[in-house]
Amino acid sequence: MHRTRLPSGVEAWLVTRYADARQALADQRLSKNPAHHDEPAHAKGKTGIPGERKAELMTHLLNIDPPDHTRLRRLVSKAFTPRRVAEFAPRVQELTDHLIDQFAHRGTADLIHEFAFPLPIYAICDMLGVPREDQDDFRDWAGMMIRHGGGPRGGVARSVKKMRGYLADLIHRKRERLREDGDDDLISGLIRASDHGEHLTENEAAAMAFILLFAGFETTVNLIGNGTYALLRNPVQRERLQRSLAAGETGLLATGVEELLRYDGPVELATWRFATEALTIGGQHIEPGDPVLVVLAAADRDPERFADPDTLDLARRDNQHLGYGHGIHYCLGAPLARLEGQTALATLLTRLPDLQLDADPDDLRWRGGLIMRGLRTLPVRFTPQ
Ligand code: HEM
Repeated sequence: MHRTRLPSGVEAWLVTRYADARQALADQRLSKNPAHHDEPAHAKGKTGIPGERKAELMTHLLNIDPPDHTRLRRLVSKAFTPRRVAEFAPRVQELTDHLIDQFAHRGTADLIHEFAFPLPIYAICDMLGVPREDQDDFRDWAGMMIRHGGGPRGGVARSVKKMRGYLADLIHRKRERLREDGDDDLISGLIRASDHGEHLTENEAAAMAFILLFAGFETTVNLIGNGTYALLRNPVQRERLQRSLAAGETGLLATGVEELLRYDGPVELATWRFATEALTIGGQHIEPGDPVLVVLAAADRDPERFADPDTLDLARRDNQHLGYGHGIHYCLGAPLARLEGQTALATLLTRLPDLQLDADPDDLRWRGGLIMRGLRTLPVRFTPQ
C-alpha cells in the first residue's frame, strides 16, 4: 500500500498487491459512491474522480452500493444475459469482417481508428437497439470522449449530453412500441425487465444504457488495441495462436484473450473506492473518507500470484486475473468483451496472417489519464488482400 498525491492534488491509497486488491474489491466497507469521499472543500468537483462532476449520471451501477446496486444489477442482468450475448456472435463476426474489408486491400492501416475503435461502438449500439442510421453519431460522440478522456473540455460535456438526450428519447420511443410487442433489443429488454413487480424507471434505464456504452466502449477498444500490440511484439506466442486457429481450435484463443487482459489490460486504475469506516488492508490502516485506488494492472503482475508475471503466456493456467474486477461490481459486460476480443483477434490474424507493426514501438503514443491504458494509434502493414 502506498499513499500518493494524484495530479489533481487528491491523496489516495494505492493498492498494488494481488491479495490486497482482491480483498479491497470484495470489501463492502469500501464504497463506490463518491459522496463518501472526504474531499477538501477547495478541491470539490475538481478531483477527476469519475462521476463527481456529472450529477445526472450518478445513479448507475459503478457509482452506487447495495441495496440500490443489488436491485439495479438484478434487473439489468435479466436483460443483459449471456444467452443474448451468445446470440449476438454472428453479428460481431459480420461487423469485424466488414471493418477489415475496408482496409484489407490497402496493405496498411491504423488498427485503433479503423478497427479497435469502431467495432465496440457499433456492437453495443446494435445490441442496445440504436438504429443503424444513427450509429455514426454515436461513433462521433464516443470519439470525442475517447480523444479527450474525462477532461473538463466543452466538447466532451456536449457529447455526453447529446448521447444521454438521444438515449432518453430512444427509451421513450421503445417504451411506446412495447405496447405493440416491441423489439427484441437490449433497451427493450431493460424496459421489460421486472423483479418482484419492480421495473427500471425511464431515468434508470437511460443511465443503465449510458453506463453500458461508457463502461463497454473504451475498455474493449483497449483490449483489442493492447492485445494486438502485445501479440505483434511476441512473435512466438502469436505464431502459436495462428497455428492453433488454422487447426480450427479455440482453446488457446480463449485462454489467450484472458492472458492479454492480465498482461496489458485496458483498465489501469479504474477502480475507485471510498472508505465508509476505518479498516485495514495489507496491514495499512485506512481512515473513513479516504479514497482507495485499486491498481489492477499492478495486481495482475504480482509475482506472488503469477509465475513469470512479465511473460506473455497465452496458454497460462490458473489465471484468475482482476482485469474485469472482482466482487459485486465484477464486469457485467465480460461475456460481450470476451466475444468481441476473441472475434477481433482471431479474424485479424486469420485474414491478415503476416500482420506487422509499421512503427518503431518507441514512437507509439499512449493516451494519458489515470483510468484507461490504451494506444492512440497502431500502424500496421500486411500483404494486401
Ligand atoms: C464493471 C473491466 C467491457 C459493462 C467493470 C469493472 C472492470 C471492468 C474492472 C469493475 C470496476 C470496479 O469494480 O470499480 C472491463 C474490461 C472490459 C469491459 C477490461 C473489456 C475488455 C465491458 C463491456 C460492458 C461492460 C463490453 C458492457 C457492454 C460494465 C458494467 C460494469 C462494469 C455495467 C459495472 C458493474 C457493476 O458495478 O455492477 N468492467 N469491462 N464492460 N463493466 Fe466492464
